[in-house]
Amino acid sequence: MADTLTITDNRTGRTYELPVQDGAIRAIDLRQITTGADDFGLMTYDPAFTNTASCRSAITRIDGDRGILEYRGYPIEQVAEHGTYLETAFLLLSGRLPTPVELSEWNRAVAVRAVPHESAKRLMESFRHDAHPMSMLVAGVAALSTLDPDARQVRDAAARRRQALRLIGSVPTLASWAFRHVTGQAYVYPDQDLSFAGNVLAMIFSVPGARFQPHPVLERALDVLFVLHADHEQNCSTSTMRGIGSSEADACSAMAGAIAALYGPLHGGANEQVVRMLQEIGSVRNVPAFIREVKAGEGRKLMGFGHRVYKSYDPRARIVKRTADMVFEVTGRDPLLDVALELERIALEDDYFVSRRLYPNVDFYSGLIYRAMGFPVQMFPVLFAIPRTSGWLAQWEEMAGDPDQKIARPRQIYTGAARRDYVPIDRR
Ligand code: CMC
Repeated sequence: MADTLTITDNRTGRTYELPVQDGAIRAIDLRQITTGADDFGLMTYDPAFTNTASCRSAITRIDGDRGILEYRGYPIEQVAEHGTYLETAFLLLSGRLPTPVELSEWNRAVAVRAVPHESAKRLMESFRHDAHPMSMLVAGVAALSTLDPDARQVRDAAARRRQALRLIGSVPTLASWAFRHVTGQAYVYPDQDLSFAGNVLAMIFSVPGARFQPHPVLERALDVLFVLHADHEQNCSTSTMRGIGSSEADACSAMAGAIAALYGPLHGGANEQVVRMLQEIGSVRNVPAFIREVKAGEGRKLMGFGHRVYKSYDPRARIVKRTADMVFEVTGRDPLLDVALELERIALEDDYFVSRRLYPNVDFYSGLIYRAMGFPVQMFPVLFAIPRTSGWLAQWEEMAGDPDQKIARPRQIYTGAARRDYVPIDRR
């Protein structure tokens, strides 16, 4: 059987045969389908890219119906159980697992690049005391493009690798400075003797003058969350990273855009909204009334539920739930967990959610872990951006080497006024 698609245009009666590759046709092949010489050619209309592949990618595979997530072919469950975040970053960027020597060199290469230029610190200091740390991170990462000597060398593979290492290393430091600024505390520098996740905890929670020793269970739990958040194929922020990067803007500028996209409550900002929602519900007895409100529509959503791709349980949510148990053994159980469990129980039985195939996503329980660790809610999306840095950069790197890629430039269907003559202001 030929791998082709035969299309008959009922407007003209003409028939076309288009090649099918990897389950897709090339949209540009539709352009030949016209009704006459003045016709531009057929396009597809896909406002939220619900059925359009924008790239070929070998980084992350999601099977949304079966609840499968793999990084470079490795199941997320195995990577989360055996790997560290920095090893995952290497895997995403290099396409394979590192040897022990490569891993220790990689860890060191990231650690020595963890301190951003001092000007970035002064920028952080200039924000108002009540700035949202995610907005500060957008600005801070954008500013790094003015401070990175390699920033403009986007066509140079070695320079791109240095930029990736600098960003993976320095984003946690910038993120912690955003936190220290809004909480009025002295900024802390990374400690090369601590792990990646241990450093994040230290730079957020340490007190000047006292040596900070991260609790090993919390340090591991945070690292597992970082592994789970490292990449998730062509989501809103990754598409933004690729979209900005496609104009050959530098990685810092593209990543500032990606962080801004992640900030939204429908994307990485959902973890913050989940905890705000749980706080608002307050107790298990208020859950049925809340579910009724969600089902009535009126703009209310069950935050942390639903996903464009997963139409079954998000595999990351399962691991997050187990990790939460580990964390609560150390920190004590958060009463909001009971509200979350009751919401999940009702939602998984209720026809509204079942028929729409709405399941908990990664954000449903991650916020409770961050809260138990002592992070304020505004930091939750920032804690998503820290590990997603490696995914964004892996996707950016892949795009740079993809001969199919060009500047991103969607088409539109024009719905405005037909041509008309301009009326000078004194005649209107
Ligand atoms: N609560 C209640 N109803 C929902 C929800 C929800 N969380 N999510 C989707 N629906 C309904 C939606 O109203 C629609 O109903 P109807 O068919 O009657 O109009 C139906 O389910 C299909 O939803 P959709 O809006 O077409 O789905 P989408 O693919 O455009 O949106 C989503 C995906 C994640 C934006 C959405 O599910 C949502 O807003 N969820 C809450 C926010 C959230 O948790 N975001 C984190 C996503 S995972 C982390 C990440 O990668 O960012």
